[in-house]
Amino acid sequence: MYSSAEADSVFQMTDRAVMNTYRRLPLAFARGEGAWLYDVTGRAYLDFISGLGVTALGHGHPRLQAAIRAAADTLLHTSNLYYIPPQAELAHRLTQVTGFDRVFFCNSGAEANEAAIKLARRYHATSGQPGRFEIITALNSFHGRTLATVTATGQSKYQQGFAPLPPGFRYVRLNDLDALRRAVTDQTAAVMLEPVQGEGGVNPCAPEYLQGVRELCDERGILLILDEVQTGVGRTGKFLAAEHYGVQADICTLAKGLGGGVPIGAALATERVARAFEPGTHASTFGGNFLAARAGLAVLEALFEDGVLQRAAAAGERLREGLIALSRRRPEVFGEVRGLGLMLGVELKAAGSQFLSACLKRGILVNVIAERVLRLLPPLIVSDEEIDQALSILEQAAEECVSECPSSAT
Ligand SMILES: Cc1ncc(COP(=O)(O)O)c(C=O)c1O
Repeated sequence: MYSSAEADSVFQMTDRAVMNTYRRLPLAFARGEGAWLYDVTGRAYLDFISGLGVTALGHGHPRLQAAIRAAADTLLHTSNLYYIPPQAELAHRLTQVTGFDRVFFCNSGAEANEAAIKLARRYHATSGQPGRFEIITALNSFHGRTLATVTATGQSKYQQGFAPLPPGFRYVRLNDLDALRRAVTDQTAAVMLEPVQGEGGVNPCAPEYLQGVRELCDERGILLILDEVQTGVGRTGKFLAAEHYGVQADICTLAKGLGGGVPIGAALATERVARAFEPGTHASTFGGNFLAARAGLAVLEALFEDGVLQRAAAAGERLREGLIALSRRRPEVFGEVRGLGLMLGVELKAAGSQFLSACLKRGILVNVIAERVLRLLPPLIVSDEEIDQALSILEQAAEECVSECPSSAT
């Protein structure tokens, strides 16, 4: 436990010594258990954001703890100069559960997308079509913060001040197949989409759109990259969100939940496409090391052997139904409920910051994106009781917003 003076000193040191890239809430956590986080003063919070969709198994999951301990007791890292047994096993399991043939391991979502973009371009270059380099992405998408992935991101606010951006990216409206058809040229290498846009406001692809994109890609020899950094690893109630759509991409990227909190990213591809990477063409020093691979295996074991994937699907249904009912009861605060599984967004009619502080005051961690969308990403192990508790807190927060500032709820 920290005194409030000690907590203040953490805030001040951070604000002085850490680069100023985040707007932080004045909160620091000391421990966690399941869906609960405890701050440095001992106060409990229901964690409905999971470290931005990362702590899929909640906090302190025994499988993950054992995996991390085993790595600490044996080996953390040797590099990809040598074979890494848990990496081999994780790659094998990922190919089994996704239908892809090969995996490239890295450390983050942006790095996985960077690998996907490079692989798509190299696939065409090595297939005798080096002029095919353009990647089409969706407006309001989010693919990361490296120069290539921030350029792939269809939101200019993330790109300001970073010119010149790498050429070869073009944006279209999501769920508008005609717009995509018009954007395709002989230079198109790939279409890259999130099955459900995360940072852009929890906007799902319409099933007929994603299926139509797959057909268009097949007709024109274009690769389909699905960015499942946020939607993957059970977040939507299936291992890949693409399974809801019956669509198999050529390349798919994972990160966030894959290590349950240990940094790991992965780009998965079919054999035909993956062949474009040969020794020396791409690499990542830490990629798939013992620690990360063991963590990934622990997450997969929990999902498939402990029933966490089924739990996520059932919990997603309960939360969605509860949110829809809440939105009907409180139409002055809540609007449309969107998303899949445990990746849910609710349009907010009240000011996002006001709603967020009403939630914090009542001990729940949530997130507001695109200014007016409440995003919920609870851990996949969340219980029915915790969901009901969260819904009741959200309702109280809504009541506070209405009673304190009725004019802000339009
Ligand atoms: C869909 C998607 N792609 C890529 C990223 C970038 O991942 P990272 O922050 O691990 O680089 C994110 C992060 O929010 C994301 O949601």
